[in-house]
Amino acid sequence: MKAVIYTASHRREGNTDRVAELLEAGVIKAGGKSEIIHVRDRDVRPCLACGYCDKSTHLQGQQRCILGKKDEAWAMFEPMFTAQTVFFASPIYFYHLPSRLKTWIDRGQQFWKARIDKETWIADLPRRTVHSVLVAGQPEGIKLFEGARLTLKYFVANFNMKLASPLTFRGVDAAEDLRHHTEMEKLIVECGQKAWQDATLPE
Ligand SMILES: Cc1cc2nc3c(=O)[nH]c(=O)nc-3n(C[C@H](O)[C@H](O)[C@H](O)COP(=O)(O)O)c2cc1C
Repeated sequence: MKAVIYTASHRREGNTDRVAELLEAGVIKAGGKSEIIHVRDRDVRPCLACGYCDKSTHLQGQQRCILGKKDEAWAMFEPMFTAQTVFFASPIYFYHLPSRLKTWIDRGQQFWKARIDKETWIADLPRRTVHSVLVAGQPEGIKLFEGARLTLKYFVANFNMKLASPLTFRGVDAAEDLRHHTEMEKLIVECGQKAWQDATLPE
């Protein structure tokens, strides 16, 4: 049993990487363990919109996408099936998720179609909750996090997961900014800890 933390920044050792460390610290505090996946380091090709997954109804898992295992997208999807709890840590880029993460999310179209077809390998996944932490440089913008939230919500629904209300932080811009806000850091550790506790509560 383990948690998976997907991080989406294209910048190394910035605020989002720090978020991942803090979430992991929370999971460990609660007695769990986690794997961090830095999406920027993975080779992910864009969805070709070729329609192959619409037609390949008899095929399961990675066989449903014409790109199959030609890149790392499928290996990155595997924890979405097996992790006890899932986290996304992302900065906001132009009011949305960074392009590498969005490229991978688009590859999830194959799961959307499998779910429509009521295929049991995806339809019968256990109900789980996904947690997200979003950081943005600007202090203002009413809908600053809305695009990212909606995309994550509908992506994770493919895996029978519900997106909890994202933890959002504004005015976090320079790479070390989050480290100067101990109150924010504390909230992120608590998020990791509580998420693991809730995910492992007996039925
Ligand atoms: C390409 C790009 C686009 C960005 N767009 C926004 C934006 O629309 N709104 C905002 O508040 N911050 C924006 N930012 C600032 C980042 O959200 C901010 O610097 C964040 O702390 C980066 O996280 P990181 O340290 O993990 O890379 C943008 C940064 C980049 C590189």
